[in-house]
Amino acid sequence: MGLKDLRKDMLIGAAVSPFFLKDEKYAAIARNEFSSLTCENEMKPQHTLDREKTLLCGTKNRASLRFDAAQTALSFAKENGLKVRAHTLVWHNQTPRWFFAEDWSDQADAPLVKPELMLERLENYIRDEMDYINTAYPSLVYAWDVYNEFIEPDNDHPKGFRLRKNLWYELFGEEAPLYAFGFARKYAFPGQKLFYNDYNEYEQPKRGFILDLLSPLIAKGLVDGMGMQSHMLIDYPRMDAYRSAINDYASAGLSLHVTELDIRSLDDSEGSRRALADRYGEIFETIVGSGKIESVTFWGLGDAQSWLSKPDAPAYPLLFDREARPKEAYYAVCEALKK
Ligand code: GLA
Repeated sequence: MGLKDLRKDMLIGAAVSPFFLKDEKYAAIARNEFSSLTCENEMKPQHTLDREKTLLCGTKNRASLRFDAAQTALSFAKENGLKVRAHTLVWHNQTPRWFFAEDWSDQADAPLVKPELMLERLENYIRDEMDYINTAYPSLVYAWDVYNEFIEPDNDHPKGFRLRKNLWYELFGEEAPLYAFGFARKYAFPGQKLFYNDYNEYEQPKRGFILDLLSPLIAKGLVDGMGMQSHMLIDYPRMDAYRSAINDYASAGLSLHVTELDIRSLDDSEGSRRALADRYGEIFETIVGSGKIESVTFWGLGDAQSWLSKPDAPAYPLLFDREARPKEAYYAVCEALKK
């Protein structure tokens, strides 16, 4: 009996890395507690785009892909009956610059290709990835994060678009998500849902910018869901803001997944463990109470794996401690899931 068994109406997942999955302690957690897996990094373009093979192929418009990094997690999911959230096809970050460059050059100042050619590269990339994954692992992926983090209100753009260090925006402007979702819809297998994914998704004005971005895509039937990353603090956001964001996205006709849940907590005292448990309790009461969230993913199997932990500053944001033992927060989540 694990988290995944406490509700029939929700998948419960975790982001995994091959290093932790190869450790039996963590493999047991993944197997017993979760019904959904996300590759923490291994399905990002940084890992799936293969420059060497691309150069050997000699085409201008089709990058070669590789999935060796993702294989540990995908095979684990298949063998143990878990489903997969595929994360992420298009993102300004963790995507090599050569994918956008003339002759696939990896020089920092190489000229970018023209938008027409990039559009062909984008279509080939999305089709090849979906075809490979859906053929090698039939029925494994239930959701694709098609576009990650296109909105960044700090950039002062009137529609909140992310302008800096964003080659997708540089080449396609505001059409970038439209193209990505168009191709993803064309090549997704039946039953797979297509998601836009972002952080601080509960804040204003960001929430409004995201809804403005998505509403024409919803009208065209190109996007199915909103991925609420939900990297939270112990006292932020307030649950009324989170609840109202859930309602806003759901009212727009979007399916909802919580995709990257964690709570920044930088000490492991008894008091902090208690506060973390209370916080997880209220978040899950909100999630369950909304009746609108189909899938919840924690961003890591345990504190030892968290991106928030730095070598000189460990963090304690998840349900399992550094020895992979369940914390008070784990039991708080169980209680809320049973309601
Ligand atoms: C973003 C990305 C994730 C991950 C986290 C932090 O939220 O979507 O893939 O990189 O940042 O690690």
